[in-house]
Amino acid sequence: MRTREAILPDAERIHELVSAYSGDGTLLPRSFAELCENVRDFVVLEDHREIIGCGALHLYGTHLAEIRSITVDPVHQGRGGGEQLVKALMAEAERHHVACICLFTRRPEFFAQMGFSVAQREDLPDKINKDCCVCPRFDHCDEVAMVRGEIPKVSILPEPTTWLVKLRV
Ligand SMILES: CC(C)(COP(=O)(O)OP(=O)(O)OC[C@H]1O[C@@H](n2cnc3c(N)ncnc32)[C@H](O)[C@@H]1OP(=O)(O)O)[C@@H](O)C(=O)NCCC(=O)NCCS
Repeated sequence: MRTREAILPDAERIHELVSAYSGDGTLLPRSFAELCENVRDFVVLEDHREIIGCGALHLYGTHLAEIRSITVDPVHQGRGGGEQLVKALMAEAERHHVACICLFTRRPEFFAQMGFSVAQREDLPDKINKDCCVCPRFDHCDEVAMVRGEIPKVSILPEPTTWLVKLRV
């Protein structure tokens, strides 16, 4: 198994992998168009040239990046592929001199093994202003916020305008 940066023709397979776990809320649903637009955030995991996993690193700034959409095909789970993906994304964050990596998950034990610790959502205002503010589960979020590195002292995204907050149902 090896990881590599994703390219546009991988978007279809990434969509399949993410969709398999978005129905039950394990992963956030990502449309095919959104995946094409953000394909440069992705790393894929290959086994004999077949893509069996993927994960993304969203950059906010040198103060913060977020691991998202990380998954391994169920047939290939438990072989170290998930760990390989997280390590590749951590290396990418390091290459960009990112001080803190965050993620939101329902599988905190998996990430705890890789040096992530539980944080408060309020410690990550950029994440709140980007995604949480329009999430229907804003007031009853069941994901655990985790970080690796220094909790950011700055945030760069503006707070959402009133009309965006009203989109929450
Ligand atoms: C979580 C996931 C990516 C792990 O991938 P994987 O290839 O099975 O993981 P690995 O084989 O690299 O496991 C690495 C270590 O984490 C442990 N681990 C794997 N999945 C775990 C889980 N769900 N909970 C706790 N620990 C887990 C393994 O036992 C292993 O520990 P070890 O090195 O002591 O044996 C995979 O189970 C998956 O795709 N799950 C569905 C999507 C998901 O939950 N994504 C993460 C949430 S955002």
